Amino acid sequence: MKTDVAYNQLVDVERRRQEANRKAQMNFRCVIALLTVATVLLAATALHILLTPKVSSSHPAPSSSLRPHRGESCSDPCTIVVVESIPEGLVFNSSTTHPTIFQAWLNLMGEARSSIDIASFYWTLTNEDTGTHEPTANQGETVLKTLAEVSGKLSVRIAVNTPQGSQPQADLRLLNDSGADIRTVNVRELTSGVLHTKFWVVDKKHIYIGSANMDWRSLTQVKELGVVVYNCSCLAADLGKIFEAYWLLGDSQSIPSPWPKSFATLYNKDTPLQLPLNSTPSNVYLSSSPPSFCAAGRTPDLQSILSVMEDAESFIYIAVMNYLPTMEFSHPKRYWADIDTQLRRVGYEKRVKVRLLISCWASTQPVMFPFLKSLASVYDPKSRLDIQVRLFVVPASPKQKEIPFARVNHNKYMVTDKIAYIGTSNWSGDYFVNTAGSALVVNQTASQSSEPTVQSQLKAVFERDWDSAYSTPLTRLSNHKDLC
Ligand SMILES: *[C@@H]1O[C@H](CO)[C@@H](O)[C@H](O)[C@H]1NC(C)=O
Ligand SMILES: *[C@@H]1O[C@H](CO)[C@@H](O)[C@H](O)[C@H]1NC(C)=O
Ligand SMILES: *[C@@H]1O[C@H](CO)[C@@H](O)[C@H](O)[C@H]1NC(C)=O
Ligand SMILES: *[C@@H]1O[C@H](CO)[C@@H](O)[C@H](O)[C@H]1NC(C)=O
Ligand SMILES: *[C@@H]1O[C@H](CO)[C@@H](O)[C@H](O)[C@H]1NC(C)=O
Repeated sequence: MKTDVAYNQLVDVERRRQEANRKAQMNFRCVIALLTVATVLLAATALHILLTPKVSSSHPAPSSSLRPHRGESCSDPCTIVVVESIPEGLVFNSSTTHPTIFQAWLNLMGEARSSIDIASFYWTLTNEDTGTHEPTANQGETVLKTLAEVSGKLSVRIAVNTPQGSQPQADLRLLNDSGADIRTVNVRELTSGVLHTKFWVVDKKHIYIGSANMDWRSLTQVKELGVVVYNCSCLAADLGKIFEAYWLLGDSQSIPSPWPKSFATLYNKDTPLQLPLNSTPSNVYLSSSPPSFCAAGRTPDLQSILSVMEDAESFIYIAVMNYLPTMEFSHPKRYWADIDTQLRRVGYEKRVKVRLLISCWASTQPVMFPFLKSLASVYDPKSRLDIQVRLFVVPASPKQKEIPFARVNHNKYMVTDKIAYIGTSNWSGDYFVNTAGSALVVNQTASQSSEPTVQSQLKAVFERDWDSAYSTPLTRLSNHKDLC
């Protein structure tokens, strides 16, 4: 059957998690308790003594090693671009459009002079990988071919989740044979999770981060969102530290504890990096999960999400593929409501308007709907409670339906009245507790240039999708079987 490859690859992931999870669960509680203590101590230590921040030479950092709690600044002329993959045939009645992720990856490879580092979940960039004969695989095939070409000329390093059984490995073999350096990261052995992160660091200067996998479908058949930041060595150096952590974990048997100093960061939710983004002063930082992969100073991804919600004053818009207040891969079942509780709390205490745009497709787990309906029931205009949920469906022609694991909104971002959060994780407990992911958090005051802020661009994307014909309100009576 055509779908075997991709299907098995997902089933494998889930089955292995199930096997490992029972054992791991007990360990997690201890590990997390220890890590919390360790993180607090390390973060405090790091902020006070560890690092000389990387700043551009025109604005040297103050030399004091005892730093007050404020971010470091950087004067790189950083340019940020929101990029999207819009699946073939999806048409919006809207002027909100962005350059494609395909174009962004080509640009990055074109710009590269010395190095490309890629963190990735799996590689299926060709028709051969997915057992398909789709003309729309051509963009993925072009990316693979171009990357193979540059692998012979510059340093190309790829950190990838350890491929399992039936997972295709032809792309990795080709890249390896072309001169790329590849390390597999066995996150299953390390934390019972997977390496789910998707980002690029080019010439220690440009970065890409977003929802797209190294998969041809992520360019033409799955709806994706990411950002590219050009000419931004301060931020690239920090994302580089997360890459180096994966690189170190590649083929290793254990997670360093504590992480060596070189992995520590000064930039986090309390002391973000101050830099100009499209000429607008901005505070940014990168979060990471799981907590055990976070060196001193790094904000764990969950804390980042909770703090962005806490900080919102009027609205929180969330677009994620999956939303579950559970550890979805754990056995026995476990309830995990950190994010869910925070949304209900800010919805009630601060009367913040909450909108969730969740994906609905053939592989959606039915158990997601009762939890989403429960959240959407926190709605009563008289009491100023305003949480609403819509389901986004990417329609598929009979021919498109034959493409395995495609035609879905795979976005993973959040935008509030102040913040843009661009992540790589599905929103269920597993992704914050044991799976590796990362996110870029951008906090900008009003735009001082003619260009809109990232926050306003993400808000426009959200509103375009929310108001489109592809999204349907979730009500108590909705039957998802009729929708997706
Ligand atoms: C798009 O929206 C505009 C304004 O609401 C409307 O006039 C136009 O007919 C719409 N076009 C389509 C193709 O739906
Ligand atoms: C990668 O290439 C080297 C030779 O350059 C070879 O020794 C190694 O086995 C290859 N690794 C994989 C995973 O194909
Ligand atoms: C990055 O900086 C270089 C050199 O200043 C410039 O030529 C290039 O256009 C910049 N790239 C972007 C995307 O701003
Ligand atoms: C965003 O920046 C403002 C001003 O610097 C700060 O008060 C606020 O806490 C920041 N928000 C987040 C979520 O980091
Ligand atoms: C997100 O969740 C879905 C459904 O569980 C899973 O198939 C997918 O691999 C996850 N990760 C990605 C690639 O975003």
